[in-house]
Amino acid sequence: MRPRHLTLVPGKWPGRGSGRRARWAEPDPRARAQRLKISPEIVIAHTQPGLEGVAIREALNRIAGAREIGRRSIADRNGMALLRVERAQSLTRMRCAEDLFALAAYLRPLAPDQSGLEQARKLARNAPFVETALARRLEVTPGSRSGRRLDFRVLVRTTGVHDYRRVDLQKAIEQGIAERGDRRWRAAENAEVEFWATLLDDELILAIRLSDDRMRQRDYKVAHFPGSLRPSVAAAMAFLSEPADDDVVLDPLCGAGTILIERAHLGRYRMLLGGDRDPQALAAARENVGPRYQPIALRQWDAATLPLKDGEVTRIVTNLPWGRKSGSHPDNRRLYPKLLAEFRRVLAPGGLMVLMTSETRLMRELFQECRIVPGAILAVTVLGASASIFVCRFDAR
Ligand SMILES: C[S@@+](CC[C@H](N)C(=O)[O-])C[C@H]1O[C@@H](n2cnc3c(N)ncnc32)[C@H](O)[C@@H]1O
Repeated sequence: MRPRHLTLVPGKWPGRGSGRRARWAEPDPRARAQRLKISPEIVIAHTQPGLEGVAIREALNRIAGAREIGRRSIADRNGMALLRVERAQSLTRMRCAEDLFALAAYLRPLAPDQSGLEQARKLARNAPFVETALARRLEVTPGSRSGRRLDFRVLVRTTGVHDYRRVDLQKAIEQGIAERGDRRWRAAENAEVEFWATLLDDELILAIRLSDDRMRQRDYKVAHFPGSLRPSVAAAMAFLSEPADDDVVLDPLCGAGTILIERAHLGRYRMLLGGDRDPQALAAARENVGPRYQPIALRQWDAATLPLKDGEVTRIVTNLPWGRKSGSHPDNRRLYPKLLAEFRRVLAPGGLMVLMTSETRLMRELFQECRIVPGAILAVTVLGASASIFVCRFDAR
């Protein structure tokens, strides 16, 4: 499987400073998003912020008939991949998504003054796609409550400056839903039906949650390890490595094994190789892998001196130490150059490397020294912390 739609457009390194020009895989996140063309088939897939573009490409590649409608990112919260699909249930196969929502209503512009609250109330009262959204909810989460009487709750996220508080907007939307004539709606704390209202400056997106917490959890994850990567982020990194059937995939700092396992779920490969210097991390990886995902080899090693031959692997996908929970920035200054040299040695010509770290500035320095120009750099937020994902291909050495 080779992802289509991986558009690389010119851009700059994230953060301050000039630096050499690299290329982004994403449109400029600061650009003003276009108004949505709404329809009842719109489903919103939540990701970690910055990974919405990867989720869209995953859907276009793996879900028949899926179409991109737009993308939004709410810093520190989540990315939103807006897709049009015939069957919402098909999106539960997406590994880069953490949660699914169906569009219920949309308004732009919503006034920034008090009159915006009245607009929001009316929008919720007359939301045109509630019926379709509830049917899709049953499709995605069979057995979820439906019927004439429904308890609901409203969650609100906002960005931008408005004259009203978030809680005022929440109350206005609650009131609008309670006034609807289609059912007997009752606001309740532990309600099953969740309306999520996202106000991005002057754009209000009202959606109904389709999935539950099970979507973001993975049943393979029996052993947890501090610093263990969020499965949806691991899946996005694996997807960015452009999976191919003959891949020999290496995660040299594999922790609990999340990246290798997510790669296995994306399609065929020749071999998975993982290692970590910490025996406890390896024990967690072995427990998570169990008897599945063969052929796979997990070994204890120092990633700076890998017991592998030159050019032995075709993909390296890894989450580098960030120097926060373990290690430090000075440690990384010593470690990263050794890791990069070793990764280049074991990677076959034409191979691809996908690396994630919060050490963006250090990576920029090292890439400049080594004359590596990443094919793509994604600025992401993982559980509130800013990081970058670098995608580098080694064509010539
Ligand atoms: C950021 S975590 C990676 C977590 C992993 N992706 C996961 O999902 O669990 C970094 C891992 O690198 C390991 N590590 C740090 N320095 C290492 C080195 N020189 N060689 C091998 N492993 C190392 C740590 O033990 C830790 O498990």
